[in-house]
Amino acid sequence: MSRPTILLLGANGQVGYALQTVLASLGTVITCTRKELDLSVCNEQSTLLSELVKKVSPAVIVNAAAYTAVDQAETDTEQARTINTVVPGLLAEAANAVGACLVHYSTDYVFDGTKKGSYQESDQTNPLSVYGQTKLAGEQAIAKTCTRYLILRTSWVVGAQGGNFLKTMLRVAQERDSLRVVADQIGAPTSANLIATTTRHLLLEMLAQPASDPRWGIYHLAAAGQTSWFYYAQYVLSQAREKGWPIKVAPEAIEAIATADYPVAAKRPQNSKLDTSKIRQTFGLVLPDWTHGVEEVLTQLTRERQDLLRVPPSGE
Ligand SMILES: NC(=O)c1ccc[n+]([C@@H]2O[C@H](COP(=O)([O-])OP(=O)(O)OC[C@H]3O[C@@H](n4cnc5c(N)ncnc54)[C@H](OP(=O)(O)O)[C@@H]3O)[C@@H](O)[C@H]2O)c1
Repeated sequence: MSRPTILLLGANGQVGYALQTVLASLGTVITCTRKELDLSVCNEQSTLLSELVKKVSPAVIVNAAAYTAVDQAETDTEQARTINTVVPGLLAEAANAVGACLVHYSTDYVFDGTKKGSYQESDQTNPLSVYGQTKLAGEQAIAKTCTRYLILRTSWVVGAQGGNFLKTMLRVAQERDSLRVVADQIGAPTSANLIATTTRHLLLEMLAQPASDPRWGIYHLAAAGQTSWFYYAQYVLSQAREKGWPIKVAPEAIEAIATADYPVAAKRPQNSKLDTSKIRQTFGLVLPDWTHGVEEVLTQLTRERQDLLRVPPSGE
C-alpha cells in the first residue's frame, strides 16, 4: 500500500506536535499551522480550507487545532465558535469532497460533570462554558456531514510542548513558597503522546474502511485512573523534586481548595472522568495509568532543563 498523505492542522499545539512525529511512520504528513492559515478567518463563506484540502488531496485530515483558552472563550465567543465549530464543519465537507477521513479531538467539557460515575459516549451532554458549547457544536457539525470520521474526546491534556497545568505547577512552585490548588474536580491527565499513538493505531485499522463500517464515530480517550488537580500537583512536584528541580513549595505548603475559592471566568465540570470501555474494546487497546504519561513528560522536561543548564554562557 502506498503511503497515505495526512493533512495535520494545529501541528504546533500539544497534541499536534506529538502527532507530527507519530504519524510520520504512517504516511506523509503535511502540516498546517497558524502561519500557513489563520483559522479565525474561516467563516461559513470561506473557501480557504476546501481549497487547501483539494490542493493537498489527503487520505486523512487530522484536526488538532482548537481554541483552547477556556476562560478567554467566555468573552471571545466569535473566535471560539469559528475555530471550534465552523472549522470542523468545513473540514467535514472538504473531507467528503476528496474522499478523506477526518480525525478530530473534543473534550470532557461537553459534559456538566454532575454524573456520579465516568461519562460514556452516549451520556447526555450539557456544556457549562462557551468553550464546551463550541466544541460540542463542532462534534455535531462533523457527525451531521462527514461520512468517515473519528472524534476522540479527551481530558486534561499534558505534553512537553505547549502550555498545560503540569508546566504551570513546575513554574510557580519554583517561584513561590505555597500553592492553592482545586481539589474538588476530578479527571485523568492524558498525555499528548498517548493521544497521538492511539490516533495512529486507530488510523491503521480504519484508513481503508468504507463509510458503512460501524466503528466510525465518537470515542472517549483518556488515561486510566483518576485524580484531582490537587493530587496531580502534589504528584508532579514530588516527582520533580526527586528529579532535581529546585521546587520551593514544601509538600505541606500545597493547600487543597474548593472550586468556589478559585473564581475563574468559565465554569468547569466537577467530574471529568471519561469511560474508555468503547475505544478499548473496539480497538483492543490497553490504556496506561495517568501517572505514566505525566512521568514521561516530566522526564522529557527534566532532560531539556539539564541540557539548558549545560549550555555554556554566550558572549563575554
Ligand atoms: N488542553 C487540554 O487540556 C484539552 C482537554 C480536552 C480536550 N482537548 C482538545 O484536544 C485538542 C488538542 O488540544 P491541545 O491541548 O493540543 O491544544 P493547544 O496546545 O492549545 O493547541 C491548539 C492548536 O490550535 C492552533 N490554533 C488555535 N487558533 C488558531 C488559529 N486561529 N489559526 C490556526 N491555528 C490555530 C494553535 O496554534 P498556535 O500554536 O499558533 O497557537 C495550536 O497549534 C483540541 O481539540 C482540544 O479542544 C484539550
